[in-house]
This record gives sequence, C-alpha cells and structure tokens, in this order.
Amino acid sequence: EGRTATWHGPSLRVEKYVDQGSEYKVTAWIKLIEPASSQLQLSSQIGSGSSANYVALSPKTISTSDGWVQFEGTYRYNSVGNEYLTIYVESSNNATASFYIDAISFEKTSAGPVEIEKDLIPVKQAYQNDFLIGNAITAEDLEGVRLELLSMHHNAATAGNAMKPDALQPTKGNFTFTAADAMVDKVLAEGMLMHGHVLVWHQQSPAWMNTVQDGQGNTVPLSREEALENLRTHIRTVMEHFGDKVISWDVVNEAMSDNPPNPSDWEASLRQSPWYQAIGPDYVEQAFLAAREVLDEHPEWDIKLHYNDYNEDNQNKAQAIYNMVKAINDKYALDHPGKLLIDGIGMQGHYNINTNPENVKRSLEKFISLGVEITISELDIQAGSNHQLSEQLANAQGYLYAQLMKIFKEHAAHISRVTFWGLEDSSSWRAASNPLLFDKNLRAKPAYFGVIDPDTFIQEHQPDSKDANQSTAMYGTPGIDGTVDPIWSQAPEMSIHQYQTAWQGATGVARTLWDDHNLYVLIQVSDAQLDKASVNVWEQDSVEIFLDENNAKTTFYQADDGQYRINFDNETSFNPPAIAEGFVSATKISGTNYTVEAKIPFKSIKPANQVKIGFDAQINDAKDGARQSVAAWNDTTGNGYQDPSVFGVVTLDGKPASPGNGGGSDTGSGGGG
Ligand code: XIL
Repeated sequence: EGRTATWHGPSLRVEKYVDQGSEYKVTAWIKLIEPASSQLQLSSQIGSGSSANYVALSPKTISTSDGWVQFEGTYRYNSVGNEYLTIYVESSNNATASFYIDAISFEKTSAGPVEIEKDLIPVKQAYQNDFLIGNAITAEDLEGVRLELLSMHHNAATAGNAMKPDALQPTKGNFTFTAADAMVDKVLAEGMLMHGHVLVWHQQSPAWMNTVQDGQGNTVPLSREEALENLRTHIRTVMEHFGDKVISWDVVNEAMSDNPPNPSDWEASLRQSPWYQAIGPDYVEQAFLAAREVLDEHPEWDIKLHYNDYNEDNQNKAQAIYNMVKAINDKYALDHPGKLLIDGIGMQGHYNINTNPENVKRSLEKFISLGVEITISELDIQAGSNHQLSEQLANAQGYLYAQLMKIFKEHAAHISRVTFWGLEDSSSWRAASNPLLFDKNLRAKPAYFGVIDPDTFIQEHQPDSKDANQSTAMYGTPGIDGTVDPIWSQAPEMSIHQYQTAWQGATGVARTLWDDHNLYVLIQVSDAQLDKASVNVWEQDSVEIFLDENNAKTTFYQADDGQYRINFDNETSFNPPAIAEGFVSATKISGTNYTVEAKIPFKSIKPANQVKIGFDAQINDAKDGARQSVAAWNDTTGNGYQDPSVFGVVTLDGKPASPGNGGGSDTGSGGGG
C-alpha cells in the first residue's frame, strides 16, 4: 500500500539462486485491494542502475472480485546483471493500486543455456547498401550470447533507458554518466555506432526540470526562464559530455498529441506536456536551437539532430509533425540559408499486426519531402498476447515486417538507420505481445525471415483477404427517442460480433435507415453490467458509429469521415469534434441492456437509392472502470478511429420513385409517396 509510482512494489533479490544462461519460472499469487480493477504484473529487473533491464513476466488486468489470482512467467538470465537480479510486482498503469502478494516461487525450468544461430544472414549484411541496422540495448545485451546476437546482426545501438533525462540528471546539477558511459564505450569498442536518446521528453524526466511545488504544495509549471535554463543546461552538458561518440541525438521526443483533430494548426496539436506548460509552444524550437549552438561550437563533430515520435502512421499526427518541422526549419533558414535546424525525423515504428503499411509509407514520403533524413528509430510489431504467438500470427507479423522493410528499402536513399526496439521477445518492453525478430531462445522467427528477404516472404505468405461486410439501409424516418418505431423492422440487422479483444463481452445488432437529409442508426446492446467509471470515454459502456460517406475507403480520415460515440446514458463524443453539428441521439436502458438511436446528417453526399456508404458499428464493453471487450460489425483491427478502409459497406435503398420523373429504376413498383 502507499505506492506513488507505477514501478513501485515489493521486490526480492534472486541472483544467488541463478545459474547464468538457465531459464527460471516465477509464480506469485496476487489479490487486488484497490481500485476495483487494475493492471498488475510480475516483473524482473536485470542489473542495477540506469542500464538495467526491466521485464514484464506476466501482465494481467484483474478485479478485486477475482480474489487471489496466480501470475506466472519465465525468463532466461543470460546475464546475472553484475550480481543484481530481482523479481517484483508492479502495475504498469496505476501508481497507487494496492495489493497482497503470497506464495512466491522461483524455480529453474528444464530449459538450459542456448546458443545463437550462427548460420543466418546478418540483418546488417542484408541491408549494408541501404541503411544502418540498430537495436535498443540495456547492460544485459552487452555480454555473452546476447552480445553475440547484437553484434552479429547490428551496426548501431540506442540506449533503451540509460541516456534519458532521469538517468543522466536525476537532481539539478547532479549529472550521472557512469552507466551510460560504460554502455557507450562498450558499443564503440564492439565496432557499432551509437545514437543518443533522448534530451527532451515528457516521460522518464525528473520533475524539477520543468515543475515546482507552490505554497499549497501543488505541482505547477516552472517559469519560462527557469525551465529554459534547465532545458539548455541539460542539452549542453549531455551533448558536450558524449561529444562525437554519438552519430545523432533525439533532441525532442513525442511532442505531438495523438490523432490531433486539426493538424493544420501544429501548435494547437502539441501535447500539453510539462515542458510545453512551462515554456510554451516554442519549446521544441528552443531545444533544437540549444543543441545546434553546441554543434556550431564543434564543427569537427558530425552529429545529426532528430525529432522523434510514435503513432506517426496516423495521418493527422504525421501532418502536424510535418507542419511543425517545416515551420521551424523554414524560420531557421531565413537567417541560415540552405541550413536545417532539425536534420531528421525519427519514426519510432511501434506498430501492431493491424498497422496499415500504406499509412507508414504516406508518412515516410511526407517527411522525406521536407528534405530531412529519416530513421525508423524503435521498430517493433506486436502480435499475439500473453507471450503466446500462433503460427498464423507469427506469419502475419513476418508479412508486415516484410512489407515495411520493402518500403524502407525503396526509400533507402532517405533513410539512414532502421533500429529494432529490443533483441528478442522475452526481454522486450512489450514482451507479452512478442514483437521482435527473435524468440526467447534467440531463434529466428518468421519476422526475421520477413526482414531478411521481403520479396520472397511476401510471395510465399499471401494472407487470405476478407471482403468487407455488406448490408442495406432502408428509406424511412424514425423518431429519435430510444424507442424502436415499427419502421425499423424494414431495415436488415447487422450483427455486432467481430471481437477485437480476446474476451467476448457485450454484443448486439445495428440497423440503418435513411432519408434525404440523414442517416439513422439503431443499435441494441446486450450487456451484463453497465459501467461508465473510466475517465476514457471509449472505456465506458458505449456504442460507436463509423461513417465514410463517399465510401472512398482511404486509409486515413477525409472530410466526409467521422466516428460518433454514445454511452448508455446518452453522453456523446466525436472524432473529429466538428461532426457533432446536427447530430441527435437518444438512449433507453432496460436492465443491463440498452438501446441507442441516432440521427446523423449527411455532410457531403446526396443520398439516393444504390449509393454505397462506408459504415461500421462498435460496442465497447466496460466493467469495473476498464474496457474488457470490443466488438464491431465489420472491423477486426481496432483502427476504425483513423482508417476508414476497415469499415463495412451499406447500400442505401428503398426510396420510392417520385411520381412524374419518368419512373426511374423502380418502375412498376406501384407505391409512390
Ligand atoms: C521504453 C523502454 O524500452 C522501457 O524499458 C521503459 O520502461 C519505457 O521506455 N518511446 C520511446 C522509448 O522513445 O524511449 C520507450 O522506451 C518506448 C516508447
């Protein structure tokens, strides 16, 4: 109890039980005290200090009503962390959750030490004429078989944590370089190049840099002057310390919001981070100016300054990043003709099996058009869950790796480095979803073969393509009051049962009607409990309606596309916000079931018989303040909020021919009006 950070939790030292290279099974029984539901995980720490690795062995979301729950995971300790290993229980997303732990065990499994596969083509060799191949590392990757795997396939490295602000300047003026220095020197001694990550970020950064406690003990932003001074001192001291041991720096990381509704205003699209709050929207430019000043004093160094961000396949976010980098570089060029302030953009590349490579390509080409160098800075692809990966998903993961590497190779003239975020699945920051090229036994997965030879892999693993679901909207105008008018019986049912989650919770049916101005949607949900405790609207019991009026099936939202969310209490939310205009909805609850009725004005098409619209309907099922299941009519990917190509198709029909216009297509049907 009394935890104040997500990583807080009781820990046990275990190094004295470990034979290096052997695998261990860790189990513990855990019972949640508070809140009603929380993510909890059994973790292991390998090594001490800022070059340590922290591995999630068994993440699970549990409820207090579950009572005692067993958590179990395995890890092979190829490194004994300089005689510092622990196991502990934490929560990756809840700093204050409290819980009991009992019956902890730590046992060697029958899986002994492993060797790397030496007969594989090194990834760095396959791409030697294209770009550097990097990996994210902690100290455990710099010894034994892990170092063999690292140096066989890679010629560049990024510190997973050791060069972040909290690692290098935990308290003001107290610079702690020892762990990072050891890491950088080892990387260089192994003949690899080092990328610097990261100078300015909102995470893993000490609070003193940009906040202060006021008289009432509240945390408030520092003054602009003080925050700027802290920003500049950190950048200068760190850059001067490492000098040209690095080839590039992530100067600013993750400054942009996710899926900003109005990317043309990049300043309004910035994340409201502590740096932003203390300094204002020019903090990004100020950081790059400070870094550039250091480089200008050292013309003998060849170091590139990068902006780095994730979800950069989202076209709204990519556009906002593009606009920001362009504005900052254009302004700089006024006084420095022909020179860039921001040299490069890092596309982190934390993807999942449903990422659309088309969107990655669009963003890549957008960024290239700025005349900056691109890196793929943190590539991994989540596939499967609970440390399980079926053969089918492993191949789908390999296929996406192949599609992406093919795109990167085609743009190699503009890409300087592709860095994978971790060596093998079990040590990844997303270990439970198996995101990397090698498995826990350091064996190459299909993902490796997809990377090494994209064309062959793509040829040999064509996925089954699924046609979008089809349905019909009938002509008619219902009252929007949550009661099911008889006219709804004319509209065919669309069953909402494509689950995007492993758990299969609330389900239901949707129907659509239309008239000359509006689309009408009825969704009847069967649920086992109604819950809107989460602050995240999409994690409340709610339905979502997705609409692509011109059915263009683009992989990004155009002006005719929208996402409408209505919870069981008729509270609404909209993406983008402007589509709220003219929208009307009503809900009716019956026990734990509910009905939603909605009227959506057509914005851009002239509705008529046989017009096809892109459409989907989704049910979010919440329990104890968390979303436990998501079901849709068509989409299985969960990308509907940014990618209309995943919607189904609804054809408008049933409008009687108007008398006197020569009959139209419905001749002979008789009943006008
Ligand atoms: C991750 C590390 O891999 C983890 O060990 C750590 O607990 C959290 O940060 N974007 C970034 C990286 O820029 O620094 C993050 O690395 C992953 C997301």
